[in-house]
Amino acid sequence: MTESDLDAVVHGAAELVVGPAGEGPAPATDGSPPDDPDAVLDRREDAAVAIVDGEVAAVGPTETITERYPPENATHSVDASGRAVIPGFVDSHTHAVFAGDRSDEFAAKLRGKPYQEILAEGGGILRTVRAVREAGDDELLDLLCDRLDAVLAHGTTTVEVKSGYGLDVETELRLLEVIDCADAEHPVDVVPTFMGAHAVPEDRGTDEYVDEVVDEQLPAVEAQGVAAFCDVFCEEDVFSVEQSRRVLEAGREGGLAPKVHAEEFVRLGGARLAADLEAVSADHLLHAADEDVAALREANVVPVMLPGTAFGLGADYADARAFRDAGAPLAVASDFNPNCYAPSMGFAASLACVGMGLSPAEAVCACTRGGALALGADRSEAFPEGPPLDPKAGTLEPGAPGDLLVLDAPSSVHVPYRFGENVVRSVLKGGEPVVGPGVAP
Ligand code: NIG
Ligand code: FE
Repeated sequence: MTESDLDAVVHGAAELVVGPAGEGPAPATDGSPPDDPDAVLDRREDAAVAIVDGEVAAVGPTETITERYPPENATHSVDASGRAVIPGFVDSHTHAVFAGDRSDEFAAKLRGKPYQEILAEGGGILRTVRAVREAGDDELLDLLCDRLDAVLAHGTTTVEVKSGYGLDVETELRLLEVIDCADAEHPVDVVPTFMGAHAVPEDRGTDEYVDEVVDEQLPAVEAQGVAAFCDVFCEEDVFSVEQSRRVLEAGREGGLAPKVHAEEFVRLGGARLAADLEAVSADHLLHAADEDVAALREANVVPVMLPGTAFGLGADYADARAFRDAGAPLAVASDFNPNCYAPSMGFAASLACVGMGLSPAEAVCACTRGGALALGADRSEAFPEGPPLDPKAGTLEPGAPGDLLVLDAPSSVHVPYRFGENVVRSVLKGGEPVVGPGVAP
């Protein structure tokens, strides 16, 4: 090995989270979260990680690792004494490419106006669609990159971004192009999802618009070759289960793995659809029933919890405990969008604990490896063009991407414990410092 191969050695970590601990804890019989973090996470004390050619080469006791990989030979030697080191957050659900803002709708919602009423009046998603159609590509790219700066500063090293504020062939393609450019330009890895079926444009009937998504948008999106996933807002007064099925099956035929916005405002059947299609994830799930929990588990569909959305809407949270106790590999994501202006995964983790009953260790796991699983890290068969992220993403196991966070805290539990505080001191992406000390000027 030559010296230049050794990108970084992070050593002396008070706690180092390698990834999930085996099969995880047995379900609690009284519905309470597990109180033993070590049953959920593989956590090491006084530990180090060596990153070679952008990948984790070894992880273990500081003494062993530094003997084999002397920090003085590394491009970056990071002393993590007294601090926790965890995998970078994998945020598996955002709509982060948009123009305009909807702060006045936030105020209206606080006065009791429902989200769906705002949408029915041409506000909400439809208002953002108007702003996006008027915005230029450069403006959209700048806006997205600014938001990627913000999420990276809060520890997100991989983020999924959906289209869906275009709702016509040209603008949906433009949004995916912008997402692709951001992925190339920005240190954060961006996983692109096509979501033409996000809302029905004001001048179209639903069936007519579903025809357009299937017959015009999807073939163009597939030819463009950017998107990895196809997602649908399966919801009352938006897309029915059958309309959603049509879109997702067509997407899958074209090589796009399915995801579903399911059971957000009412229980319509999106979770069962996700299970039928063996979708990679089903997201929101505020109104999922016990049968839905079982069906998703059976079909290996990752439930994605979006506590920021429920928080912002003042809605009841999804029953994350039911999914955990069924043994599901849960994900927690930010749902960063104009209706949920929430770039911080740490905040999502706090809400997942306080509002949804996850233990702090479960929340950390759901924001890291859980997010990677919700992006198909272990579902290579779902991606004919190749999976969108590394099979070991969201962990610091040997072979995983060298994406890690050094916290200004002695334990990973401080991520959810310290509400609203950014405990991320530095971020390494592929072994390169991109936030905090050591970043090239
Ligand atoms: O996941 N529910 C649908 N889509 C988004 C909201 C998008 C918006 O309101 O602009 C979500 O919360
Ligand atoms: Fe969403």
